[in-house]
Amino acid sequence: MSSDIVTPILKRESFSDIISLTVSKKTDRQMIKGHIYDPGYGLESDDWKRDTAMKVVLDHLTKRFPSRSKKGEDVIAVNDFTFEIPDGQLIGLLGPSGCGKSTTLNLISGLETPTEGRIYFGEDDVTHLPPENRGVGLVFQNYALYPHMTVLQNILFPLQNLKGEARPSKEDMRRRAEEAARLVQIDMLLDRRPSELSGGQQQRVAIARALVKTPRVLLLDEPLSNLDARLRLQTREEIRRIQRETGVTTIFVTHDQEEAMSISDLIIVMKDGFVHQIGKPQTVYDEPCNLFVATFLGTPQINLFEGRVENGRLYIGQDAVLKVDCADREKLTVGIRPEGFVLQENGPLCCALQAVEVMGRDHSVVSTHPAAISKTIRSIIPSEESPHVKSGSVRFRLKPFKTYLFDAGTGERIPFSAL
Ligand SMILES: Nc1ncnc2c1ncn2[C@@H]1O[C@H](COP(=O)(O)OP(=O)(O)OP(=O)(O)O)[C@@H](O)[C@H]1O
Ligand SMILES: [Mg+2]
Repeated sequence: MSSDIVTPILKRESFSDIISLTVSKKTDRQMIKGHIYDPGYGLESDDWKRDTAMKVVLDHLTKRFPSRSKKGEDVIAVNDFTFEIPDGQLIGLLGPSGCGKSTTLNLISGLETPTEGRIYFGEDDVTHLPPENRGVGLVFQNYALYPHMTVLQNILFPLQNLKGEARPSKEDMRRRAEEAARLVQIDMLLDRRPSELSGGQQQRVAIARALVKTPRVLLLDEPLSNLDARLRLQTREEIRRIQRETGVTTIFVTHDQEEAMSISDLIIVMKDGFVHQIGKPQTVYDEPCNLFVATFLGTPQINLFEGRVENGRLYIGQDAVLKVDCADREKLTVGIRPEGFVLQENGPLCCALQAVEVMGRDHSVVSTHPAAISKTIRSIIPSEESPHVKSGSVRFRLKPFKTYLFDAGTGERIPFSAL
């Protein structure tokens, strides 16, 4: 790509401007100082699509790390994980630190061996296959590029390591490396070294390197955590695009729920080695199976209250907030999504107003309630309905489909309908 166009831009806003530049030129096949930018490159990727779509079956997968001391307990990093990941989909593996996300990826890639259970790629049992024979592409949080090699050499590296018949010819290697680079839109940077790239560009080199062997499964372990917020957003959209173009079954690990929800076909929510829920992002958000999933998904977080059901009425403290069809219970946890509150003069839930935060289109009304478990209650209200006063009491009615009941002990969701 033309240095006189790109270099000044690179110094300013390297990644984003290159994206907008290439995207804006996408309408025509163009020559940019020796590099042909061909919008038709996706056609070649369709070949990848046919070859690579591969379901991944996890069958009662368990990984136990033995304790180092006699008195210590073993860690069960992954506990009886059974799921069939449909081919060609992007799966977000989501959960708090230490819940077993990386261990799950390492088991799929072959870097770890399961204590129990089996792994299949398509119909092939790969449980005891060494990593190099599984056909997986791996991208880690720290891109681990070779600093002394150029971008092209970094991408070529996995191909050059192939032995015997699997090793492509020199021309073929070069063609495949260039194709992978084009796919992630770094084909204009092939001669640079990693230190001369932005974080987002380095991340793309790592993805190109993982794609160059045409993997059956692409595994991404927190690939965006080293990037700033803006670059994160753009790179995750890029990952989505690349995944769609290649159709490669992809597992994307993150502890950022928003990131997982925005790009995944399905999300898997894990905690303490257990899978808690699997489903489409919107379904998991709308129908969380328990308190953990409900609190883990959504920003601002779901608001929690102590409540009870008495004579068919749901109470939060003294406030009878909804008529419900479930049996009486002395104690339960009520969760209300921030968008589940509607300001209403005589609304049943009476809160003490603390602040109104302006967020542009919406306002965040911050309040407290004696029965609230959450320190403050955050409700999202359209700006035109926002309260004019900044203190005193504020009353809400609740949207029943944004209100959830959970067992106060186990955290399991209690189904109900509002009457
Ligand atoms: N080699 C090991 N030996 C012993 N325990 C391990 C080993 N690897 C991981 N663990 C433990 O297994 C559990 C799951 O670890 P894992 O790395 O899979 O978590 P994670 O979900 O990827 O967390 P993070 O978001 O912090 O990366 C943790 O309790 C961790 O301490
Ligand atoms: Mg991890």
